[in-house]
Amino acid sequence: MSEEFRAVTRKKWMARRAINPRLRKLSERSIEKDEKEVDVDAFLKRLEQLCTQMVGSDYFLQAMDTVEESLNALTEKEQFTRLLCFGIGPFTRNFQALHQLAFIICTQRHYCIKEAIYFDPVFRESEKQVLQGLSCAIMTENCEAKYAVDERTLFYLPHCPNCLTNNLLWSNWRPHQMKNLVLINNSFESLSLSKPERWLRLDSGYILDILPYAKEFQLEDDYETHNVFNDLSVHVFPLTSLPAEKDRFWSEKEAPTYKDVEMISAEEFTKLSIK
Ligand SMILES: C[S@@+](CC[C@H](N)C(=O)[O-])C[C@H]1O[C@@H](n2cnc3c(N)ncnc32)[C@H](O)[C@@H]1O
Repeated sequence: MSEEFRAVTRKKWMARRAINPRLRKLSERSIEKDEKEVDVDAFLKRLEQLCTQMVGSDYFLQAMDTVEESLNALTEKEQFTRLLCFGIGPFTRNFQALHQLAFIICTQRHYCIKEAIYFDPVFRESEKQVLQGLSCAIMTENCEAKYAVDERTLFYLPHCPNCLTNNLLWSNWRPHQMKNLVLINNSFESLSLSKPERWLRLDSGYILDILPYAKEFQLEDDYETHNVFNDLSVHVFPLTSLPAEKDRFWSEKEAPTYKDVEMISAEEFTKLSIK
């Protein structure tokens, strides 16, 4: 791996996550200042090489079979109109994020998805330019994954804070919207087994509520490198499995609020952007 793709190990990442959130933000900004911006054209070429390897990998081929299986569980056969990617991470500086980016680019091409939108508050300028070089859009506002859909949309949130997925579900808390979501994200099943329910409720209430009606398809992780695609699944919400439209299950609820979560909030992002 070249200097351009210098890895930030998962351990460092986790350590950075563990410090006080305010210090964490500051440390991330200073790390960004210290690191050289990559040469965007050179990076794009190397990324293309990685995509060529990815598309021929067993991991990718199996993953596409799994996505296909999940789509077959949905009654309406629709094409994806859009891809949304939240929290992929600083992919010019982080190994996992880089390989996840190659995966999702290959998935977008596999399904001929015309529109791709990315957001991660830690993107720096050259990362935005790389995405623009790939004809992808970057959200300028931090919507905290509160993104409502009315057409079939593929979401990629690899190893993201649970509250992002929770917000996404809250924003689509109607059967006719829920049926359009195809999520590739942290396994709901693993999450549900990870902690007692009263803790999970703090940031994952909507995930827990939809869990009995969701169909989960685990993505086999036999990728050459560990800790890149571990514990990810495809989740879909077939209309036939969901409570009926008029059921009080769907009654309107206040936007979820959180304390002490890993997510960078819209407010924090604004503060960072104007510094
Ligand atoms: C645990 S890291 C995962 C990074 C990478 N996908 C991986 O697997 O190593 C969580 C990611 O969520 C991002 N994140 C935090 N708040 C976010 C928000 N409001 N919207 C989108 N991404 C966010 C962080 O910046 C970080 O890149």
